[in-house]
Amino acid sequence: MSVFVAPVTRLRGTIQPPPDKSISHRAAILGAMAVEPVTIRNYLDAADTTSTLNAVRRLGALVEEHPEHVVVRGTGLREAAPVAGPIQVGNAGTLMRLLPGWLAGQEGRSYVLDGDASIRRRPVDRIADPLRRMGAAIEATDGRLPPFTLHGRRLHATEYVLPVASAQVKSCVLVAGLIADGTTVVVEPAPSRDHTERLLCSAGVRVERAGGRVSVTNQDELVLDPIEVPGDLSSAAFIIAAGILVRGSRLLVTSTSVNWTRTGFLRIVERMGAIVLGDLEEPAEAVCPREPVSDLDVTAGPLRGTVVSPAEVPLAIDELPLVALLGCWAEGTTVVQGAHELRLKESDRIARVVEGLRGLGARIEATADGFAVEGTGGLRGGRFTAHGDHRLAMLGAVAGLASRDGVEVVGMDAAAVSYPRFLDDLATLV
Ligand code: S3P
Repeated sequence: MSVFVAPVTRLRGTIQPPPDKSISHRAAILGAMAVEPVTIRNYLDAADTTSTLNAVRRLGALVEEHPEHVVVRGTGLREAAPVAGPIQVGNAGTLMRLLPGWLAGQEGRSYVLDGDASIRRRPVDRIADPLRRMGAAIEATDGRLPPFTLHGRRLHATEYVLPVASAQVKSCVLVAGLIADGTTVVVEPAPSRDHTERLLCSAGVRVERAGGRVSVTNQDELVLDPIEVPGDLSSAAFIIAAGILVRGSRLLVTSTSVNWTRTGFLRIVERMGAIVLGDLEEPAEAVCPREPVSDLDVTAGPLRGTVVSPAEVPLAIDELPLVALLGCWAEGTTVVQGAHELRLKESDRIARVVEGLRGLGARIEATADGFAVEGTGGLRGGRFTAHGDHRLAMLGAVAGLASRDGVEVVGMDAAAVSYPRFLDDLATLV
């Protein structure tokens, strides 16, 4: 689906962003592992998180979908059902990387995981490595890609040093650690989103975090309290960026997650000169069981370039394409470093962002692990292709709103992966 997004003179209004995708995936997966039913309020209704509900249904969980909440009746930690044929994860990388943590501990049962064309180019060796150390067996296509087969075994705790900060890989190992004998430790080179730790902590699991080490111990069973999913800051970030870029705008984004492991983008735009007021959580070493939420008050304003350092990358990973877009309007140069991971997302987000924004008139160069943008006061507009990547589709639309001539976004429907109402929400602000 191709959509033309015309430039606008200002944006005004209030948006409640869709429920958090990362927390929704985790709530459904942990719910399926629990012995008691769990109620998830405000579960994200989008393509990725529907894939997760379908996957856990196939594994034996009962899922009831109500207008305001979902109830997941799990199978227990060690009793996932056998599944005939592949479990389809669709476009969902988080599902593909977290679910194996559970399945690896299903002794004597084997599972095949597969997904769409984008998933088939995203490596799973990063989870295969720690899961093999814990005792599971995995056969992946060409040694590292989906579809892959996972043979469940009795798992043993490990201490795993992540080669690259990744919340998905960390979460996979922590989930496996619930079933493994002993205490499992993951060492992170830099902090990444910690929703798995918070959910486990609120379920009474002892989760310890200190000096970059996160540990969990073996559980007999998992019982979860009701879960309330906050608004997704990564979805809200597109609305926030539009509010910053379109002159004269004033927006309120309500009830959004401000977990400190997710707010890197807000700290970056603040440095660039944007004004986004909210009650952001301060970084802390101990794991807090609560997911903090805040309203965010956004005002447009002049921007200056900034350098995003490698340590900031995991805290803003999905928002880095927006940093490139903001850089087009900023005075001076905006540089993102240490973000090679962007090449392994739903698309190669370094190559696609550079190619897409150049087509709209940007002065932007790709580097091996990021990009450098020369601010030129704005973008001309033109045609922008999403390449099946939801965040690129929304990036193109925001570029259109702030551009001189408007942007035709090719493949706008990809936004349904995380934010199906994105265009409707934007329309209420114009
Ligand atoms: C996610 C973690 C991030 C992010 C992805 C969702 C998660 O990936 O890009 O969209 O829910 O854990 P990393 O594994 O690179 O942290």
